[in-house]
Amino acid sequence: MNPKIDLPIQKNALEVLRKNIYQTSVKQKTYSYILPSKEFYMHQWFWDSCMHAMGLVYDNPQQAFKEIESLLGGQWKNGHIGHITFSHDDNTYFPGPTWWATEEFSQNGRLSSGIIQPPLLAVSINHIDTVLREKGEDTSWVDGVLDNIIQYHMYLKKHRDNENSGLITIIHPWESGTDNSPRWDNVLSTIQISSIPKRIFREVHTNRTDNKLGKSQDRPRTDDYYRYLYLVDLYKTRKWDTQEILKTTPFAVKDTLVNAIWAKANKALSELLQKRGKRKEAEVFALWASQTTEALQKSWNPKEKMYALYDVSFGQKKAYCEDTIANFLPLYAGAATREQRNILMQHLTNPNKYWTKYAVPSTSLDNPSFENSRYWRGPSWPITNLFLIEGLHLYGASYCAARILEKTLGMIEDFGFFEYYNPEGKEKKGIGFGKFSWSAAIYLYLSKKYSQQAKD
Ligand code: GLC
Repeated sequence: MNPKIDLPIQKNALEVLRKNIYQTSVKQKTYSYILPSKEFYMHQWFWDSCMHAMGLVYDNPQQAFKEIESLLGGQWKNGHIGHITFSHDDNTYFPGPTWWATEEFSQNGRLSSGIIQPPLLAVSINHIDTVLREKGEDTSWVDGVLDNIIQYHMYLKKHRDNENSGLITIIHPWESGTDNSPRWDNVLSTIQISSIPKRIFREVHTNRTDNKLGKSQDRPRTDDYYRYLYLVDLYKTRKWDTQEILKTTPFAVKDTLVNAIWAKANKALSELLQKRGKRKEAEVFALWASQTTEALQKSWNPKEKMYALYDVSFGQKKAYCEDTIANFLPLYAGAATREQRNILMQHLTNPNKYWTKYAVPSTSLDNPSFENSRYWRGPSWPITNLFLIEGLHLYGASYCAARILEKTLGMIEDFGFFEYYNPEGKEKKGIGFGKFSWSAAIYLYLSKKYSQQAKD
């Protein structure tokens, strides 16, 4: 594979990341990390940061280390790491720290949210380790963070897969990183708007800003927002005790995308330990990874030709399917059979579904819920493209991977570093907020990693 490498764009990408660096001090300790975009996101987001570090390690490993150290600075005593770790000095974002009320769990005063995001951390660290080794550089920094990563994985296993099914449960759409994907519609609709306390409506109306700073037709709908905040409010009253939350929440789902990343992260952690001669510990995480890949493989619904999600709220296990980008993620985890892979390739390359000019849409074009500019209901996002590219490589579909790589880099080159993109190219610009860090980091990661492979 030999993508067209655009050096000035790599330089611009580094510049976007540099300009989004932010510092916050808590209890005399200073943390340095990259904001997703200064136009709106003034805190540290979990999987964005994992991605920033993966793109930065080639040119600025020191900042990549700081990014991860800052995330770990917000890790709770029990191992949890929030989907947002808050900037101490910003009170503009809604819902901010007071909404989450998690202070008592923090180890050193760093405040964060009580929910997770796709657990990409070990994947990020393993990539950093690999690049440092390739460059013949010292990897002792990695050794220093391994215990935190192990603690994080133990936390997820204990709190989200206590039944040892191989699949972790998410308790909020935001935990999937794909906030308003149509795959949450079924489950969310069980929360009646009329049952939501009126004070939550008032808070949303007064404080929500993403739809005012950005265009409201590109952002999640108001009813969805009420439900998101309702869930946060409910969990706060359960004092972030997962067992209590799981007993009463209307939103508990085993998701394909989150679990594919969970499998990949366990493989990555196992590799990190293996490289350090810790064979016994490595086996534990390799086993967890294979449990998850097996469970994902079994979730395939041959009639629908999709992987099922499971609604596990109130002790039930209700399978359902939704035609979204999440269906391709088992490729990334190495969980698809040959037959599943072939069917997925047909869906991916079908111009009526996913094979658009600026691929890959987050929802299939023929899904009735598809909308070409609304957040995760249609737009193409560089992060999910990255998972597809790597998954296709794993399955020997290098030609298709190369086409998506070209399309991803091309989309960013045509429109700049935006949050997401119109898959059909109808709107001749990026969508969401601009000068977006992970689009820049993904550009660096993809162009550097795959040009490197072309040289080998
Ligand atoms: C949105 C995305 C989420 C991302 C965050 C910051 O909430 O849905 O995946 O982490 O923005 O970029």
